[in-house]
Amino acid sequence: MKRCELPYASWGFRELRAAIAALASGQSRHGPAIGQLENQLGERLGGSRVLAVDSGRSALKIGLEALAGRRPERREVIVPAYICPAVVNAVKSAGLRPIPADVSHDLNLRLDSARERIGDRTLAIIVAHMYGAPADIAGFESLAKEAGIFLVDDAAQVVGETLSGRALGTFGDFGVLSFAQSKCLVTGESGGGGALICRNGDLFPELSSRVGALDPADARGKALIAFVWNYLLTPYTDKATYYWRRLRPATPHTTGPARIANLDAKTALCQLASLNNRRSARLVVLDGYARQLETQHLALPQYAPDRYLARVMVRLPPGTDIESCRQYLRRRAVTTRPAYPPFLDETGSSAYAREIAPRLLELPAAASMTGADITRVCEHLGEAMRRSAFD
Ligand SMILES: Cc1ncc(COP(=O)(O)O)c(C=O)c1O
Repeated sequence: MKRCELPYASWGFRELRAAIAALASGQSRHGPAIGQLENQLGERLGGSRVLAVDSGRSALKIGLEALAGRRPERREVIVPAYICPAVVNAVKSAGLRPIPADVSHDLNLRLDSARERIGDRTLAIIVAHMYGAPADIAGFESLAKEAGIFLVDDAAQVVGETLSGRALGTFGDFGVLSFAQSKCLVTGESGGGGALICRNGDLFPELSSRVGALDPADARGKALIAFVWNYLLTPYTDKATYYWRRLRPATPHTTGPARIANLDAKTALCQLASLNNRRSARLVVLDGYARQLETQHLALPQYAPDRYLARVMVRLPPGTDIESCRQYLRRRAVTTRPAYPPFLDETGSSAYAREIAPRLLELPAAASMTGADITRVCEHLGEAMRRSAFD
């Protein structure tokens, strides 16, 4: 039975060759690819200034620390209640307090909910384009201006997608990209790459000197092996990884902030060169899912024709037992993943995030999937839901 995998990364011979060449030439940390990547990303993002670092969370930490230095009396940062936990942790690691605000049906921060949470201690709002669905970032730009606070445009999950002709990540005071697994441009596991994007001319010299003072990430050979094992060879390694993790639980990414390493910048350049082709292949898979799931009255809450999505999240009916669905699908060689846990506080102002997060399931969407694979996944999903309803 053909396995249908989650799309952790779409690496080919070129990426592997580039990584091995960097290791063999002794240029795994320092080298010219870092500058080349910053220039090419800058062009792709409409002439922005880009500083490449080791992860999205490092980019957030560096940028937030710079903002906090300008308004030291303001210590709160509004974040979406449905978000990658790394964002919440990045806010805390910058010595600031994350404040959740609710999200809307497309899983993006709601303007009215964010407005309600602005107070006299608010430093900034972080707006993410969840899984690639563009948020109303222009609306947030007006809100931030009106309230006299900073705005962070977190485009970690998309590269080069635009809204009204302007690239996501280039709004607000600074933007963020991530090149970790499951993103649209992947250099390795989290800690392999990310970037700060700066349109605020005032802020750029400070961000640039903070990033310039960092050393490039180290141990790149080891990181490459871990990435290949954990993400590129999963069909062959996942059982061994499962037992290994029971013996030695994975330690969270704690290094950084660091500059991106030359090796990772080289693979990022390969990924950038193939981005358009990979995007087109992903759109075919997304359209296939949207058509099939509609007949089952299931929604991809973020889908729109010609919209790139880094992940395919399906919204299941209330009361579905997601864990039993996942087990049923796993037995039929279909890998799935649950959603992020919601980020809530005691105010109860994140009602939709709390309600929706347990009903979201990520479906496999590797570019190699055919129409028949998509049909098979959807049929198994339908059967899994029927069984979960009777359990
Ligand atoms: C929206 C968002 N921002 C930031 C990050 C952090 O990126 P990284 O894993 O490269 O630190 C992530 C990671 O998934 C993310 O989804």
